[in-house]
Amino acid sequence: ARFGQNPPPLRGKHVLITAGPTHEPIDPVRYIANRSSGKQGFAIAGALAALGAEVTLVAGPVTLATPPGVRRVNVETAREMADAVEAALPADAAVMVAAVADWRAEATGQKIKKDKGGLEALPLVENPDILAGLAKSSKRPALVIGFAAETEKVVEHAKAKLARKGCDWIVANDVSGDVMGGARNRIHIVSAAGVEDWPDMEKDAVARRLAQRIADELTD
Ligand code: CTP
Ligand code: CA
Repeated sequence: ARFGQNPPPLRGKHVLITAGPTHEPIDPVRYIANRSSGKQGFAIAGALAALGAEVTLVAGPVTLATPPGVRRVNVETAREMADAVEAALPADAAVMVAAVADWRAEATGQKIKKDKGGLEALPLVENPDILAGLAKSSKRPALVIGFAAETEKVVEHAKAKLARKGCDWIVANDVSGDVMGGARNRIHIVSAAGVEDWPDMEKDAVARRLAQRIADELTD
């Protein structure tokens, strides 16, 4: 390890991470979801554990392996994710990487059949905003980090999100290319201190550098 004889920098710190998509059922066989492989969130969880943090990873439905040293809680829907986040508190930092479905349907108990009238419309209701809720909670972690996948005006949208969500950093990534599901990522860290532009890197390298950045923030 890079820290040699010294104790790992995040020893004694609890970091909460959400990752992956959520699935919102329409009926027992169909769902609404966001596109997310979970790779970046899982890599961040692993990198934080490697720096000695106690990591709780609240994971939506993905088939990725749990990184070593990480406590994983599996959920399916946004509301389950919100409950699991609440149950995992207190935490020193939270990194909300999940691509939470913004809306859910009123699911039916039986499969909807095309020949029985089918689906004329699908009324949707908005899901709770887990990040915004955490940022204004009485148990707010000292460092609350949101992610934002944007296809245009990446930094401008991230600045607006930072203010709207009440978090400390927004890690914005440009998903106009083939980032979704891919191995690389290009991010910008937007905070009250300004904007940091990172070069295009492997998702594992982004995760390690971000974990170190979080360690610096929590321990200075
Ligand atoms: N997020 C969340 N709960 C939600 C929606 C989003 O916790 N119901 C979190 C995500 O995990 C991410 C951040 O909020 O860290 C930004 O998500 P994003 O989808 O970019 O923001 P939205 O406010 O949903 O805006 P948009 O209309 O761009 O989807
Ligand atoms: Ca959203």
